[in-house]
Amino acid sequence: MKALIIGSSGQIGGFLAAGCAAGGMEACGAGVAGEEFRLDLAVPDSIKETFARARPGIVFLCSAMTHVDGCERNPELARRVNALGPALVAEHCRAAGARLVYLSTEYVFDGVAGPYGEDDPTNPVSVYGRTKLEGELAVLAVAGALVIRTTVVYSYDTAAKNFIMQLIANARSGAAMRVPKDQFSNPTYAPALAAAILALVSKGAAGIYNVVGPELMDRYAFALRACAAFGLEPSFLEPQFTSELEQAAARPLRAGLKTGKLVATLGQSLPPVDESLAEIARALK
Ligand SMILES: NC(=O)c1ccc[n+]([C@@H]2O[C@H](COP(=O)([O-])OP(=O)(O)OC[C@H]3O[C@@H](n4cnc5c(N)ncnc54)[C@H](OP(=O)(O)O)[C@@H]3O)[C@@H](O)[C@H]2O)c1
Repeated sequence: MKALIIGSSGQIGGFLAAGCAAGGMEACGAGVAGEEFRLDLAVPDSIKETFARARPGIVFLCSAMTHVDGCERNPELARRVNALGPALVAEHCRAAGARLVYLSTEYVFDGVAGPYGEDDPTNPVSVYGRTKLEGELAVLAVAGALVIRTTVVYSYDTAAKNFIMQLIANARSGAAMRVPKDQFSNPTYAPALAAAILALVSKGAAGIYNVVGPELMDRYAFALRACAAFGLEPSFLEPQFTSELEQAAARPLRAGLKTGKLVATLGQSLPPVDESLAEIARALK
């Protein structure tokens, strides 16, 4: 079965591509940055052309407008990229009989009473969350579609701007880093996330699955754990309330996702934070 990874230049798409290669699954990439197929989710013709040429048996839709405050400032583009584009991808999958795996987020919740199970009522508080939820609903209309909700995804990747790479960059430059102390969620190690997604696919899983790390913690606590793992002096970290950060988009504060369904299906959870951070510490040396 040939896989099409939309957003293979991104953090999660990159680990999915590596996972497909390691598992012997033929895969090709699509995106706006010169991947094998040029696909812009905001340009319907580019989606149509990619499906006609790639003829995938399974599609991993990782692309999104992921900058949460950027979505708030440009809601029209956010909707085209995060909702209308995925709806078209879903349409093409349905027509081609291809399986569809869509990456979504805990930001579909309001963060009043997390952690959340897959069936809890959604109530996004930002444009990003609303447009990702609209994308989810379009994708779930395709029989057999798999929606993966995740959060705070991190990895060691010198080209990436995930939270951990930002932390390492700030620690090295000595620049202060303001970190929210009131946003709770589950840090999720990207290589383990990709492996779990591929394991769910191989089991024929469908519907919504939460795929996140096993521990719920606030972002400042996560930053302190990372500093300890990497031997960094944490004085550059400045714990703040979210309200002090003056961000354009509201954040779900008491968020996080429950993983009982994932554990029941795969028989294991993702590795604990300290184990994943230790792996990054080894890469740093
Ligand atoms: N990272 C997290 O903490 C997190 C948490 C929850 C959910 N998610 C979801 O997981 C997915 C992947 O996240 P990630 O961490 O891998 O994000 P990422 O590293 O920011 O990658 C996003 C990808 O989307 C591509 N892209 C952006 N605009 C596009 C467009 N108009 N058309 C086609 N491709 C476009 C980017 O291409 P360029 O690199 O060329 O811009 C990149 O390949 C997203 O759907 C996101 O909503 C991520």
